[in-house]
Parts: sequence; C-alpha cells; structure tokens
Amino acid sequence: SITRHYKFDIKLQNVTRLCHTKSIVTVNGQFPGPRIVAWEGDRLVIKVVNHVQNNISIHWHGILQLQTGWADGAAYVTQCPIQTSQSYVYNFTIIGQRGTLFWHAHISWLRSTVYGEWWNVDCEAVISQALQTGGGPNVSDAYTINGLPGPLYNCSAKDTFKLKVKPGKTYLLRLINAALNHELFFSIANHSLTVVEADAVYVKPFETNTLLIAPGQTTNVLLKTKPQYPNATFFMTARPYVTGLGTFDNSTVAGILKYEIPTNTLHSAASIKKLPLFKPFLPPLNDTSFATNFTNQLRSLASAQFPANVPQKVDRRFFFTIGLGTSPCQHNQTCQGPNGTMFAASINNISFAQPTTALLQAHFFGQSNGVYTSDFPISPIIPFNYTSSTPPNNTHVSNGTKLVVLPFNTSVELVMQGTSILGAESHPLHLHGFNFFVVGQGFGNFDSNKDPAKFNLVDPIKRNTVGVPSGGWVAIRFLADNPGVWFLHCHLEIHASWGLKMAWVVLDGKLPNQKLLPPPVDLPKC
Ligand code: C2O
Repeated sequence: SITRHYKFDIKLQNVTRLCHTKSIVTVNGQFPGPRIVAWEGDRLVIKVVNHVQNNISIHWHGILQLQTGWADGAAYVTQCPIQTSQSYVYNFTIIGQRGTLFWHAHISWLRSTVYGEWWNVDCEAVISQALQTGGGPNVSDAYTINGLPGPLYNCSAKDTFKLKVKPGKTYLLRLINAALNHELFFSIANHSLTVVEADAVYVKPFETNTLLIAPGQTTNVLLKTKPQYPNATFFMTARPYVTGLGTFDNSTVAGILKYEIPTNTLHSAASIKKLPLFKPFLPPLNDTSFATNFTNQLRSLASAQFPANVPQKVDRRFFFTIGLGTSPCQHNQTCQGPNGTMFAASINNISFAQPTTALLQAHFFGQSNGVYTSDFPISPIIPFNYTSSTPPNNTHVSNGTKLVVLPFNTSVELVMQGTSILGAESHPLHLHGFNFFVVGQGFGNFDSNKDPAKFNLVDPIKRNTVGVPSGGWVAIRFLADNPGVWFLHCHLEIHASWGLKMAWVVLDGKLPNQKLLPPPVDLPKC
C-alpha cells in the first residue's frame, strides 16, 4: 500500500449545457470532477483549496473513515466548512473496501455543481428560494451521464456521452446516482446487465435489464457485448422513479453505446451498413413493484453455510419515522408550502437544526453544551398509523439538534418507517461511517411482533444507503465500532434541506485502535 496525494482546487468554471452557460463551482475546473483511484490499504492525502466565495467541504461518500472521522467532510457535523482562501487536508486510509464510491460537496446544494442533475439556473439560488418561501424547489432541467444530458433534450445533441465497445467482450460499468433529488432507472437497449457490487460491497451476481439506483448508491455491473453487432448503436437511458406528490423532472437522459467495427473484418468500414439506433424500455415512473423486486434480489455473497457477520444479538433497538411534514410560516405573507405552511421533513418528528459549529469538535473537546443534546427519541413520541391515507391532524415538526450516544461496539437495530404524511415516498437514507446490513423490508406499518421473525440474517446485503420503501419500512443492523459523530440523512437533497437528518455519537473503545484520532492541525474553524 502507498500514499496517494491529490490536490483539489475549488474554483469557478463556465459550463454550457442546453444552450445555457453558467459559472459553476468545480474541482480543478472539471465537470464532472476528477476521479480518484486507490487500492485497498492505500492512504489518501487530498488537499482541498477553496478559491470561491462559497464555504465548502468534501465528503468521501461510503468511505468508512475508521478512527478518522475528521476526514468525513460533512459540514457542521465532522468539520466546519473550508472558508474562502482556506484549505484543509483530508487524510484517510481505505480499509477493507473495494469497488465504486464517490465524493461530493457536503454543504448546502453545492453537490449539484460538482455532479448530477443539470439546472439552467444557479442551484444555490434554487434551494435558498425554496427554503425562504417554504415551497418545493424548482426541478432540474436535465439528468446527465458523466455531465452530459444527451440528445433527447433541446440543444444538447453534441453533449452526448458515448461509450465505444468491441463485440464479444465483458465490460465493468461503474454507476453512481449523483442526482440531487431523484432515484433513477437505468437501462441499455438490447443488453442485460449483471449486477456484481453495490456501495463497494460484492453481491451475488444477478442479471437484469433495468437497474434502480437511489441518490447516494453506487452499482457495478458487467456488460457483455454481443459477438456480432458491427456499427450498431444503442441508447443507454435513465429516468426517475417517483412515487411522491409534487413536481419532478420527468425527462430522460440518454447516452450511446457504440459497437466498433472490428479491424479484422473482411469488409471495409463503409460497406457495413449502419443499424438503426436501438432504444431501451424503462419501467413506468411509479413502478414500486419493479423497485421491490429489484432490491429483493440484492444479496450478499454469504450463504447458510457461511452466513454474513450480521450482529445476532441486538444491544439497542430504534424505530425511526421518516417523512415529510410542515412548519409554521415564518413570514408575514403566506408561505408556498401545504396550506400556507412551510415544507419540513423529520426523523421521529425532529427536524435537524444545523449547529453553528461542528458536532464532532463539540463532542471531542467536551463542549456539547449549547451545540447538541443527547436525547434523540428512540421511537416516535406520538405513535400513529404511519401509512394510512389520513395523516394525523397536526403535521408540524419540531426542531432540534438531537443526537443518539452509543457506547463503542453497540450492536444497533434500526427500523426506518416511511410515513404517508404529505404523500408516501421512497427515501434513500445514507449513514456515514458504517456499512449496515439490510435485514428486512416490507409495506404498511412495521409489526414488531411478526416482522422480525422474517429478517434475513443469512445473506443480507451490506451497504451505506438504503431506500425506505414508499409506504413501507426497512430494517438495518450495524455494529457501532467506529468512534466519532456520524450523520444519517435522506440523500434527496431537498429532504435533507428540510431537516430529514440526525446524527449518532459513537464513543471511544478502550483499546488504542478503538479511539478517534485527534483532529488534524488544519481543521477548519467556524
Ligand atoms: Cu453522500 Cu452525507 O452524503
């Protein structure tokens, strides 16, 4: 293993898509940003220098950050943001992980400008307007594949991602849903894909024509090209899976898979006739049964003979409701949220209030007073019928910076129950600092008497982001063996902005390798 050094210069760059040019915050002027390649065991030392007016922080999404929580990059959780003309060195080691993960900005909506969906207007303006008026945000103008919207949008044909392949080969495609607010179906015409890995953990391989990937999730697939298809082109397309109410970007991004003409062909290139462009078939927008079947197929490599190391004995059980709600209008005029209120989102009815200093610092230096409290509720304070069509009368959330404190090596079972307040919707929940086992999922209200008997403790998938199903629940287990402060949040940016987030404090263990390391000297100040 070696140490790899990178420098990320955060700077503005003009980028044109859909005939709109705008200045966006980039890393090293690149859109999408640069790729980092490392081997298991390597140390990464990444110096991030902020040359823009926005505060910035970079999150290495899915990296476990064992003992190195200071490098996790969640603004106001594990660090104060890097201010203009300041820098910070992220220093961490890749331990026991292999596959595809991604990095992104972890402050406000700056993630969008480094990756993902494309807005013709400034994304920071979109979110601040939404938060001010209390309404839903404007939706994106396009989805992108490697930053390119493709030919199905106006003024975009030249911005099409093209993948050239040879016949009769197997390719590994690394797919990341870096969109802000949409789960996506993805398919390549006339080709099936073999799923081999999710969130940088191997899975039992299975074939599918269409994938579902939620924001924050990554999926590696094998693409076998056909033995014969010279000069053929195939669309690869993605479009959203949506079950909630409200407006969304109902468009389709397309890239092109193009078979090369074999050089050993007996015919000249010109004599090989061009085949028509093949188009894939994607499931309907709200196809929850497809979503369920797809996610049920994701299983780890474990088997009855060699079961996964799921915590069998549970020390702490939590039941979190995940969903939307409202807050009273803060302005004199009427707000644009439901019935003149403002949109909010919460876990166990608590909408996360962002602190003004980093939670990890407050914890490490024993200065949590006035920054956070350790009384996050372990289950909803007022239970109700979470998935009935008539939501409770009062949809208002309460605000707070409340955390759960866990002793080192606590084994945790967490059931996340989606609510149908303001519409049942699938929420991709992302946990920092851990991979968790997805031991169960179901529809309707979780039944603590019957459902645990059906948990899969043999070959559940291990990952860092899981969809809480629309109108249902998901159960996860993890071992709190990484000291630090770890965010849990919806990876739909708008829900995170509305407060659908909370954090765990995991205390140090007794041994030296069970303790959070001290902060780096250049840790940014708030
Ligand atoms: Cu990719 Cu806290 O997120």
